[in-house]
Amino acid sequence: MKLTVSNLSKQFKNKSAVDGLSIELKEGVYGLLGANGVGKTTFIQMLCGILSPTEGEIRFNEKNIMDLGEAYRDILGYVPQDFGYFPEFTAEKFMLYIAAVKGLPAHYAKESVQKLLGKVNLQKASDKKIKTFSGGMKKRLGIAQALLNDPKVLILDEPTAGLDPKERAYFRGMISDLSKDRIVILSTHIVSDVEYIADEIIFMKDGKIESRGSVRALIQTLTGKVWEGNVAEKDVGKYSEKYSVVNSHFSDKRTYIRLIADKKPSIDFKEAEPTLEDVYINIFRTKEAE
Ligand SMILES: Nc1ncnc2c1ncn2[C@@H]1O[C@H](COP(=O)(O)OP(=O)(O)O)[C@@H](O)[C@H]1O
Ligand SMILES: [Mg+2]
Repeated sequence: MKLTVSNLSKQFKNKSAVDGLSIELKEGVYGLLGANGVGKTTFIQMLCGILSPTEGEIRFNEKNIMDLGEAYRDILGYVPQDFGYFPEFTAEKFMLYIAAVKGLPAHYAKESVQKLLGKVNLQKASDKKIKTFSGGMKKRLGIAQALLNDPKVLILDEPTAGLDPKERAYFRGMISDLSKDRIVILSTHIVSDVEYIADEIIFMKDGKIESRGSVRALIQTLTGKVWEGNVAEKDVGKYSEKYSVVNSHFSDKRTYIRLIADKKPSIDFKEAEPTLEDVYINIFRTKEAE
């Protein structure tokens, strides 16, 4: 199974949201990481076939998804960034409604709805109205509806936005369970959401793939290049001009700085273990500074 994206672009008036993006994805969990506005949602909407590209194409097992049409939707599960729920519906009624929209046979739907609500730990809430749900429960319901057709390709756009730390942890466990024999793509701007569950991280910036690789490989690119030290307040500017500062805070008359440099910047610094957060901040540093 593979999803092939070739030279994909999306232009909105004079804004290029996705810009000549090419990538091939096989079974596994992919963390699509990037700051707000880099084009994640636009890319995802094209992957789901709900937004047509200005240029380029997407193929599932060599066939253009636009030509596959219904056959592609049959193997696709999508959890949008902003999910429209029906507040007066109960969880079960909502699921049955989506099952009908997806064209699943009624007898099969009834059974799989209960199974899926159990899977996302919403079985007890199955006859409660959605308007009474917490943010985390709504997100879980969003995932359950996306799983109704047992999708081969599962795409989740910012699925952890608005979740508390406990809900985030639960979510990570759930995704790991779902990842077998599927292509799972989940977008986020939060490193820790995907650091431990993604087989591969895809960094997106300015509508393009900036880099991709396993967490380990990406971290390795910074081995011997991350330094931390405490410097005098007056020297902070000097370092931030010259280096990529990934973290800094004032403490006890000195300022702690964590930065990226090919060589030890000064006697005040010692080498530090790189993290995925360092990789992320190093990529998006210029963006943040603007
Ligand atoms: N329908 C649209 N019309 C015009 N500009 C858009 C539209 N959708 C997105 N954009 C712009 O495209 C860029 C990428 O947006 P988006 O794909 O939502 O990024 P992300 O999901 O990474 O935050 C942003 O600059 C956004 O303002
Ligand atoms: Mg988005």
